[in-house]
Amino acid sequence: MKLVLICLLLSIAIPFLVQRFQSGVIPLKNVLSVKGLPQKTSLNASFLIFAEDGDLLDVLQTIRTVEDRWNKRFHYPWTFFSTKKISSFFMETTSSVASGNCEYVQWDSTEYYGTGLKDTMYYLEQSEKLSSEGVKYSRSGSFHRYQEWILHSLLYHPQLRFEYVWRLEPGLRFNCEEESDYFDEMRKQNATLGFTNHVCETRRSGILELEQALNKYEQEGMPDQPRIAWEYSTEDIYCKFWPYDEIIALRKFRENSSFVQLTQHLLNEGGIYYYRWTESDILSLVLKVYNSSTLPLDTAGYMFRPDINHCPDMESGRCACYVDD
Ligand SMILES: *[C@@H]1O[C@H](CO)[C@@H](O)[C@H](O)[C@H]1NC(C)=O
Ligand SMILES: *[C@@H]1O[C@H](CO)[C@@H](O)[C@H](O)[C@H]1NC(C)=O
Ligand SMILES: *[C@@H]1O[C@H](CO)[C@@H](O)[C@H](O)[C@H]1NC(C)=O
Ligand SMILES: *[C@@H]1O[C@H](CO)[C@@H](O)[C@H](O)[C@H]1NC(C)=O
Repeated sequence: MKLVLICLLLSIAIPFLVQRFQSGVIPLKNVLSVKGLPQKTSLNASFLIFAEDGDLLDVLQTIRTVEDRWNKRFHYPWTFFSTKKISSFFMETTSSVASGNCEYVQWDSTEYYGTGLKDTMYYLEQSEKLSSEGVKYSRSGSFHRYQEWILHSLLYHPQLRFEYVWRLEPGLRFNCEEESDYFDEMRKQNATLGFTNHVCETRRSGILELEQALNKYEQEGMPDQPRIAWEYSTEDIYCKFWPYDEIIALRKFRENSSFVQLTQHLLNEGGIYYYRWTESDILSLVLKVYNSSTLPLDTAGYMFRPDINHCPDMESGRCACYVDD
């Protein structure tokens, strides 16, 4: 029987239901749920998009290709996180394209913005210094807060109760016809991270500070030296997992005290503010330091920008891209 794709907008606001966490309080409110097709998936998994109303077109294009190339077979749900109010237009349009349930979470975490920011004078000095080194966004308070907000969401937000989340950046498109259930591959391999690419960035002073903070960090079970923070690095560059098309075994991550404590430690250090560490610097480092099991998503082709994409090297994938030998 064909299910009619008329979505009922169910605004289930759960006001004042407050949960306490190690690092702060995350109120579980403004969680809106739009019912799509009934849940059919066997695994506890969801796509996860951090976006706001202004990203709607990019978000729609991403959902469209992910549904057409992959999720039409599986109907995994979608979860949207925003720091700003999410309009009903955003919810109606996105849920009409998605083939799984959609959840929309708005929270701005003003309660603990800047947990790691203890010395504002030092922050201002550092912002100037990094800016003179040519480091992008080093003077943008909202950029720093956003990095902190994403990590807090991943670590603690009660709505992200999934075993696996597949983070997708708005604007990303799938290139290939995808047959296999990557969430299930993650499960079979006991993988903590499924990734498509590494990105390499210039090794700047803030990254040296991050490595020093790691080296000073002491925890039981953590070998003294050397600590390998990056997949690849030289004097000039460091390479990390690209975060915008990756599957995280989120429950495993949250339940692993080594991961959580190191991430929280780095958040408390304030380097997000003082040294412009990004959420992806921190997450990639934490996963790498503990030699987490990774699953390369080699057959998952995508296009994000001309310089950030992945085209599988195979003939059978029906990919709208090619590997230029
Ligand atoms: C996933 O697991 C969580 C925690 O056990 C549960 O609350 C939630 O309903 C599950 N979701 C699905 C889709 O099974
Ligand atoms: C995954 O973990 C389970 C339980 O710990 C284990 O039995 C299984 O062999 C592991 N699988 C792989 C591929 O490592
Ligand atoms: C956390 O994960 C790492 C990497 O998989 C593993 O070596 C470590 O034993 C785990 N720690 C805990 C406390 O589960
Ligand atoms: C991770 O692997 C490297 C290289 O094999 C090793 O030196 C290091 O001790 C391992 N780290 C952990 C936390 O197991």
